[in-house]
Amino acid sequence: MPYALDLLRTLRRVPGLEVHLVMTQGAKRVLVEEASETVESVEALAHRVHRSSDLGAPIASGSFRTMGMVVVPCSATTLAKVAHGLADNLLTRAAYVTLKERRRLVLVPREAPLPLPSLEAMLKAAQAGATILPAAPGFYHKPRTIDDLLAFLTQRILDLFGLDYERAPRWGEGVELELD
Ligand SMILES: Cc1cc2nc3c(=O)[nH]c(=O)nc-3n(C[C@H](O)[C@H](O)[C@H](O)COP(=O)(O)O)c2cc1C
Repeated sequence: MPYALDLLRTLRRVPGLEVHLVMTQGAKRVLVEEASETVESVEALAHRVHRSSDLGAPIASGSFRTMGMVVVPCSATTLAKVAHGLADNLLTRAAYVTLKERRRLVLVPREAPLPLPSLEAMLKAAQAGATILPAAPGFYHKPRTIDDLLAFLTQRILDLFGLDYERAPRWGEGVELELD
């Protein structure tokens, strides 16, 4: 859940964006365990908030224009649903629509170890056009804090959407290996 919070806080600083947020019941449950924020304080970070049961929300239709969608964190359950086109709540419907319209869909799974059903679901989702971005930050930028680790993943998400914002140092631009 800290990855989601970092992304939402960063997206607020990127000009010209309208961020729509859908939190599943699962997400709300995990938020309680993994962060000190409330559902209300997280929702306040987005421009528009939709109930996960609201299948009539704008993002349920391909005619509503978006840059795409990121599912962060993406549970093994939601990953499996997206891979098989199962649209049983607003989040999975919006992911289905994003694939249908051939827009950018980034899934950020966080599970370990990965059993065969999740590995197969990742393959299927990737074949359908999704980008699988595991919640597995790199270390070449020499992270010192949890914030540094979050920044790495947020930067990768921003880059995948072509958003011009610097959240973390880049390889070759200030970060270099120290070899003997
Ligand atoms: C505290 C807590 C932590 C969880 N962590 C993970 C996790 O890291 N990865 C995962 O795939 N599921 C995790 N789950 C299980 C999902 O929340 C659960 O499968 C849920 O049904 C997912 O629903 P959703 O995909 O609609 O959000 C966790 C559940 C709880 C209560």
